[in-house]
Amino acid sequence: MNKDELIAILSDETKNDWLFKKADEIRRQNVSEGIHLRGLIEFSNICKRQCKYCGLRWLNKEVERYRLSENDILSCAKNAVMLGYRTIVLQSGEDDYYDTDRMCRIIKDIKEFDVALTLSIGEKTYDEYKAFKDAGADRYLLRIETTDKNLYKNMHPNADIENRFRCLYDLKSLGYETGTGCLVGLPGQTIESLADDILFFKELDADMVGIGPFIPHGQTPLKDVPQGDFWLALKVMALTRINLPDINIPATTAMETIKPNGRIIALQSGANVVMPNVTSTEYRAKYEIYPNKICINDAAEQCRNCIENKINSIGRFVSKDYGFRNNH
Ligand code: SAM
Ligand code: SF4
Ligand code: FES
Repeated sequence: MNKDELIAILSDETKNDWLFKKADEIRRQNVSEGIHLRGLIEFSNICKRQCKYCGLRWLNKEVERYRLSENDILSCAKNAVMLGYRTIVLQSGEDDYYDTDRMCRIIKDIKEFDVALTLSIGEKTYDEYKAFKDAGADRYLLRIETTDKNLYKNMHPNADIENRFRCLYDLKSLGYETGTGCLVGLPGQTIESLADDILFFKELDADMVGIGPFIPHGQTPLKDVPQGDFWLALKVMALTRINLPDINIPATTAMETIKPNGRIIALQSGANVVMPNVTSTEYRAKYEIYPNKICINDAAEQCRNCIENKINSIGRFVSKDYGFRNNH
């Protein structure tokens, strides 16, 4: 679709049912009925950045910060493998304590478990990304958040959108399966810019795209901004499926945080991935990027059973393979 077509659908509420059904059909034709589970380890909530929307931003002094030791990370990963996960996602704030050597050690150790490994640890240099890839990392998640240059600048003091683009193209060129995505509902965001976001996913040839509604956090400058609209986020997601038919698209945790059963609705509107949390419950509440996150008190075992039951209840199944793109 071109930009005008994307804008027309995004602004037309009467086409929603058609759009969600169409995205579901394209998902079925291209990536089948299996749903890939990724076990998410939130291993550090320490972050040097100041993204205005995020509860972990450095200037939020009310957060009790934590870092998992290498052993703790490995034991979460091992538990996830025992629960049947075939992909581990390591996510954190931008925390320089985990330097290249330390990260490479963790990557190599986790790869011993015969799993696919995704990193989501922010902006790094080409050489760092290369070292992680050489150590065995398979995929990388780095949302562009918004392609609107002015909005990006406003949301990310002291950051540079050109560097974010550079990171994504570096990741692609290094052979990572590259995930990106955007927030829906940032203050001042336009429908036009959401259309541009989708066109960017296509231009990058993203292998994975995660779309999440913005949820205001009380200890950030955006505390009084209304939360993003669930249905608009779902429309951006469904349009992403239609325009990039064979990629992996998660039903995001943020969607379920603002809408009961939000992940299931997403799985029926184009999504084919879920990323349940496998971090020890002791740390979950402290990784508060936004409030009222689901599963804060649920152990990894509970989430694993819960999500499989939900997936089965809509006639789908948990895939047993690694879940790479083009390997469904
Ligand atoms: N620090 C890494 C980064 O920013 O790429 C990875 C962790 S960061 C917490 C993961 C994602 O959380 C971000 O890409 C952002 O889209 C999302 N996020 C942060 N604050 C949010 C909020 N208030 N509402 C919804 N999503 C949020
Ligand atoms: Fe840090 Fe990521 Fe939150 Fe930005 S979104 S403050 S980089 S954890
Ligand atoms: Fe965590 Fe349902 S996925 S309790």
